[in-house]
Amino acid sequence: MANVIVIGAQWGDEGKGKITDLLSRSADVVVRYQGGVNAGHTIVVNGQTFKLHLIPSGILYPNTECMIGCGTVIDPQVLIKELDQLEALGISTRNLLISETAHVTMPYHRLIDQASEERRGSYKIGTTGRGIGPTYADKSERTGIRVLDLMNPEGLREQLEWTINYKNVILEKLYNLPLLDPKQVIDEYLGYAERLRPYVVDTSLKIYDAIQRRRNILFEGAQGTLLDLDHGTYPYVTSSNPVAGGACVGTGLGPTMIDRVIGIAKAYTTRVGEGPFPTEIGGEMGEVLCTRGAEFGTTTGRRRRCGWFDAVIGRYAVRINGMDCLAITKLDVLDELEQIQVCVAYEIDGERSEHFPSNARKFAQCRPIYKTMPGWKTSTSDCRTLEELPKQALDYLKFLAELTEVPIAIVSLGASRDQTIIVEDPIHGPKRGLLYQDGTPASLLSA
Ligand code: IMP
Repeated sequence: MANVIVIGAQWGDEGKGKITDLLSRSADVVVRYQGGVNAGHTIVVNGQTFKLHLIPSGILYPNTECMIGCGTVIDPQVLIKELDQLEALGISTRNLLISETAHVTMPYHRLIDQASEERRGSYKIGTTGRGIGPTYADKSERTGIRVLDLMNPEGLREQLEWTINYKNVILEKLYNLPLLDPKQVIDEYLGYAERLRPYVVDTSLKIYDAIQRRRNILFEGAQGTLLDLDHGTYPYVTSSNPVAGGACVGTGLGPTMIDRVIGIAKAYTTRVGEGPFPTEIGGEMGEVLCTRGAEFGTTTGRRRRCGWFDAVIGRYAVRINGMDCLAITKLDVLDELEQIQVCVAYEIDGERSEHFPSNARKFAQCRPIYKTMPGWKTSTSDCRTLEELPKQALDYLKFLAELTEVPIAIVSLGASRDQTIIVEDPIHGPKRGLLYQDGTPASLLSA
């Protein structure tokens, strides 16, 4: 039995979809714990490609239960579209459960997100425009609409009447936008409520029950460590907590019930939206990574910014999430390069630093210190064992493991399931846990 968190070690889009899909095969339950329809993964079913934003891809396995936890924000319009798409393909959604205490993204959230980005001008964050920040802001401000509110028509009418009139003032006076019609919105959302009602439960209780029955649970993080509201590159972050700790808060589960944390990192780095990115590369090389890696967002189609692997960020992600191991994805994207750079440390104010600075202004001034590695100039996409990899590729992976101070358990060399090297079982292999400064493992956590 193992309860595992899978989390992005960079700025999101690390290829979590494929790794989660691989691990979902041995999971009985897959749970989303934060974020909303800003996330997205592409799945292919019977030769048909479509995009899921909220429903975990575990839904493709007939016996896997999928849950959308209380820390997520739910856009009912998008969720219902996903349900319809899946059902049209003959994929049952009866194993989906939605937390009754998750917050709901409303039309005014989307409008405010887009309008406020426009108003920020050069200070914009580069959000996905899906209303994520304003939904979480209402949650903190305690004016949010929760799924359980949707399920109560009389209460909802009253609550939304007040809220929409309040938001209309903001839409009109601050953003010069047309007013929303409360009646129209209320009727629309009452319709959504009836469609979603069969899925709505207390997911925290369901998860606890699954743990007591020794089920294997996979907690699927959306976005990535550096987009975390508290631990990422604030303010250029999302409004939730993708880090491993967020899985407990976002599902209603105690930390003692988590067995493993698996990090996912690309063999290089990408970022969408604004904000500092020390190892970003422009020009021809940036173009090569973007094209070979098909670096365009699933949700917005935006071109991702590309850069070299940043081991300072990697080490930081290992620390912040307590990662046991890493999965390195898209190694094959580097196949044709003559040389590959790896950022081993930063230069900040003329001094070398191995650590990610928590001060955003300092981070913006960091200059990467690179070590240049030789490329392997041959295709790796058919390799299925470490032994089959070219020596330079293996040396590159060993170097990343050494720098991030964590073992690499999985290497991904392409989009398909079989283009994968399983170095060690990420769930049942040796547990890393905490190392004391003298290098000995903390006894409680050692394997
Ligand atoms: P928001 O989550 O839409 O508010 O966007 C905030 C920041 O997070 C922006 O820089 C987005 O580009 C980024 N972001 C949000 N979701 C994702 C994702 O799934 N992958 C990568 N970046 C994301």
